[in-house]
Amino acid sequence: MTTPGRPDTHVSRVYRGTFVHSTPDKALQVLEDALLGVGSNGKIAFIGTGPELNKLSQTFGFKQYEITHLGPHEFFMPGLVDTHIHASQYSFAGTALDLPLLEWLNTYTFPVESHFKDLEFARRVYTRVVRRTLRNGTTTACYFATIHTDASLLLGQIANDFGQRALVGKVCMDRNNAVKHYKETYQESKEETSRFIGELLQKKYPLVKPVVTPRFALSCSGALMGQLGEIAKNNNLHIQSHISETIEEVNCVKGLFPESESYTEVYHKHNLLTDKTVMAHGCHLSDEELVLFRETGASLSHCPNSNISICSGILDVRKVLNHKVKLGLGTDVAGGYSASMLDAVRRTLDTSKVLSIQNPDYHTLTFEEVFRLATLGGSQALSMDDQTGNFEVGKDFDALRVNVSVPGGPIDLFQTDGPKILLEKFLNLGDDRNIVEVYVAGKKVVPFTEPTDLAE
Ligand code: GUN
Ligand code: ZN
Repeated sequence: MTTPGRPDTHVSRVYRGTFVHSTPDKALQVLEDALLGVGSNGKIAFIGTGPELNKLSQTFGFKQYEITHLGPHEFFMPGLVDTHIHASQYSFAGTALDLPLLEWLNTYTFPVESHFKDLEFARRVYTRVVRRTLRNGTTTACYFATIHTDASLLLGQIANDFGQRALVGKVCMDRNNAVKHYKETYQESKEETSRFIGELLQKKYPLVKPVVTPRFALSCSGALMGQLGEIAKNNNLHIQSHISETIEEVNCVKGLFPESESYTEVYHKHNLLTDKTVMAHGCHLSDEELVLFRETGASLSHCPNSNISICSGILDVRKVLNHKVKLGLGTDVAGGYSASMLDAVRRTLDTSKVLSIQNPDYHTLTFEEVFRLATLGGSQALSMDDQTGNFEVGKDFDALRVNVSVPGGPIDLFQTDGPKILLEKFLNLGDDRNIVEVYVAGKKVVPFTEPTDLAE
């Protein structure tokens, strides 16, 4: 028999302490002495306050001794959302940052990606990138793999095994590639994309889904882009690509698609701009192009480390937000050298400050706004904000338990700072040592508990 008024879902865990998150109206909301219950379905069952304890424990049927209490320097925040990362480039992260984009692709990137034909190599790299990103608090990742279908499926399996929420893209590219063994024909790209989508969906992984992935307009014929637009539409899938990262790239796109008004038009004409599309970079988009993003519901992934590291450009995030275009943050490994979303937060702030140095009237992003971009903003950019991004009843519990004062950690505290200051210290100075637990859909995924064959 159920108690009248008691919800059907059993509450399996209850936490008491500080929670910080964002809402569409408030970049930072601090909930002190909060009580949060997680259902056995992994969703947030309730959020209340300490004084409501008796009422909540009666309604949801938990005992007070079952509550987990957070320490004085601890808080929960929503999991970080990496809206753009090349899992296949992780092996050379932190190196090879001395060439501009198009040369960088031909010299470093395509030769490395061609090795993912070898499934053992793929397993090694993909296991490590999933582990590294999870440990650094990335609860949702939007991955580029390579052109190889089986290795891309393996990435999906590894993300599922470790419990990370992920979109996984088998890369499509049928032209303009200087590396002989790393290219597909139109027919191969179309057939292998369909096989990839079919096989990945068939696995019925609860948190891992395929994303249609034309590499960018320079790597894809118009025919292939059109076909991929069709496939995405017929299967109601996400789409990801790159846009307007460098001036040289923009000029090449103009040369290849002279009939289009702009780079954004090229994708729009091929039905690749939808409300489930995320485009990386966008440093050199015009106001008219941003309007097209707004109208189609497509989003941008801001990848500041990459934009600076390979000297691509500077995205004016404030302008994008003023245009009401959805925007999340991305690491863009390995154009960006760090796989940590905390780095993406810092580089986003730095980049905004560079714009402020150039123009003293510039409205610099605040750390609270960037915190929102890294969490709720990312989930909106991936059209997943109905499931994740903040602590709302009914959403999945994707969360980081942060201890700002962990022994041997990178942060020294001197006074009794409030939660807002603790969050700011963590965002600017913290690292994976401060992320003591990571939850995805209510399941604790860090510290790792996986079988030893995945542990290395
Ligand atoms: N444009 C097309 N491919 C890539 C890539 O792998 N990395 C980056 N940063 N830009 C791209
Ligand atoms: Zn990229």
